[in-house]
Amino acid sequence: MSKLIIRGGSRLQGEAEIQGAKNSVLPILAAALLTAGQVELRGCPRLRDVDASIHILRDLGCEARWEGENILLIDTRSLSGCSVSERLMREMRSSAIFLGAILARCGQAELSYPGGCELGPRPIDLHLSGLRDLGAEIDDRGGVLHCKALRLRGREIVLSLPSVGATENLMLAACGTSGVTTIANAAREPEIVDLQNFLIACGAKVSGAGSSTVSVEGGSPLHGCTYTVMPDRIVAATYLCAAASAGGKIFLRGAKEQHLSTVTAVLREAGCSLRSDETGIVCTCRERPAATRPVRTAPYPGFPTDAQAILMAALLKSRGATVFEENLFASRYRHVDELARMGADIRVSGRVAVVTGVETLHGAPVRCTDLRGGAALCVAALAAEGETSVREITHIDRGYEDLARDLRLLGADIIRTDH
Ligand code: UD1
Repeated sequence: MSKLIIRGGSRLQGEAEIQGAKNSVLPILAAALLTAGQVELRGCPRLRDVDASIHILRDLGCEARWEGENILLIDTRSLSGCSVSERLMREMRSSAIFLGAILARCGQAELSYPGGCELGPRPIDLHLSGLRDLGAEIDDRGGVLHCKALRLRGREIVLSLPSVGATENLMLAACGTSGVTTIANAAREPEIVDLQNFLIACGAKVSGAGSSTVSVEGGSPLHGCTYTVMPDRIVAATYLCAAASAGGKIFLRGAKEQHLSTVTAVLREAGCSLRSDETGIVCTCRERPAATRPVRTAPYPGFPTDAQAILMAALLKSRGATVFEENLFASRYRHVDELARMGADIRVSGRVAVVTGVETLHGAPVRCTDLRGGAALCVAALAAEGETSVREITHIDRGYEDLARDLRLLGADIIRTDH
C-alpha cells in the first residue's frame, strides 16, 4: 500500500508549476464525444479520474492515447456504443457527465446511476430533469438510466440551484439539439468557461459561461481541435495553504489569482502576502497565521467547498479561532478526526466547524478520507513536529498528478513509499 511520509517543521522555499484542472478536463473528455473528430488535449493532468474517463471513452469504441507527458490524443470517430458499464461508472462519480454527450451524439444512452460518494449523497435529479426538458425520455428504474431522444429540442431550462455538473451536462446535450437552449441559474465556475472555450474551439455556438445564463445554439456539426486545459485552481489553493501552514516563500507558475480570489482574500487576512501576475502567484508567509472571519462555502464566486478542508488545515496553528460553514456537501468534515490525531482543536456541530489554533501539532499516522481531505492532512503535516504517515492516498491520486513531487519542489520533506 502506497503512503506519504512527511517530516514537518521546515519552512517552504521553491517553485512548482500548476497542473491542468481536473474539473475542466473531465467534462472536456466527455465533450470530445460530440466532435466525431480528433482532439489534442494539452496540459491534460495524469490523474486516476482522467484514466477512468479514458476507460469510458475506449469502452465506447473511441481511441485515446498519451503523447508525451501531458498531451492526450482522442479520436471519437470510431464511437461504436452508447452504454457505459456499471464497473466504469463506479470508478468515478462525475461519470454522469457522459450522459448529455452520448445522448447528443447517439440519440440514446445507457448508464448506471453514479450513486453516492465519500462526501455524502450526490443526486443527479437536476441533470435528469434538464435532459427531460430537452426532450429525452429517461427511465431510471433499477439503478440503470435508459435514455432515448429521437429529437432533442432547445428551450429554456431553469436550474433550482447552480449545479456545476448539471450545467455542464446540459451544455453538452444542448449541442445536439435543434434550436437554442438557455440554462438559467447556471453554475459560474471557471471550469464552465473552460468547457465553453473548448466547445467553441470545436465549432459550437455557446455563450454566457461565467454568468448565470448560458446559451447554446445547437445543431452545428462539431470538429476536432487542439486545446489547452486551464490550470487547476484547487491544486493552486492547496500549495498556497501549504505555505500558510509551514511558512516560507513559494512561486506557483501558471496559477491564476482571478480564479482564486476568495481563497487568497482569506490567506491575506491570515497574514500571508501574495503577489500575482500573468506568470503565476508568489506567496510569502512569515509567521503563525491569524484566525480569520467565518469561512462559508458557496457556489462560485463564493468560497470553494473543495478548498474548505485544505484551508482548515492551514489554520490549525493560527492565533485565535475560525468558524467554517460547509454549505454544499453533507459529509465534508471527515478529515477532522484525522487532523485531531495530530493535535488539532476542531469542534464540529452540523455544518459548522470551529478551529481553535494550537501552539504545536505533532506527526501521527493518519488516513485519507477523501480527495481534498487527504490533501489537507499533508498541509497540516508540514506544520507538525516529527513524522506523519498518510495512508489510503489513492484518494489524493484522483486529483493531484504528484503531490509529493510538487511539495518537494516547494521545499517540503515528503516522500512516497510503496510499502
Ligand atoms: C463539482 C466538482 C466538485 C465540487 C462541486 C461543487 C467536478 C468534476 N466536480 O461537483 O469538485 O466540489 O462541483 O463546487 O467538477 N445537487 C443536487 N442535484 C443535482 C446536482 C447537484 O441536489 O442534480 C446538489 C449537490 O448535492 C450539491 C450541490 O448541488 O449539494 C452542488 O453540486 P454540483 O455543483 O452539482 O457539484 P458536482 O458537479 O457534483
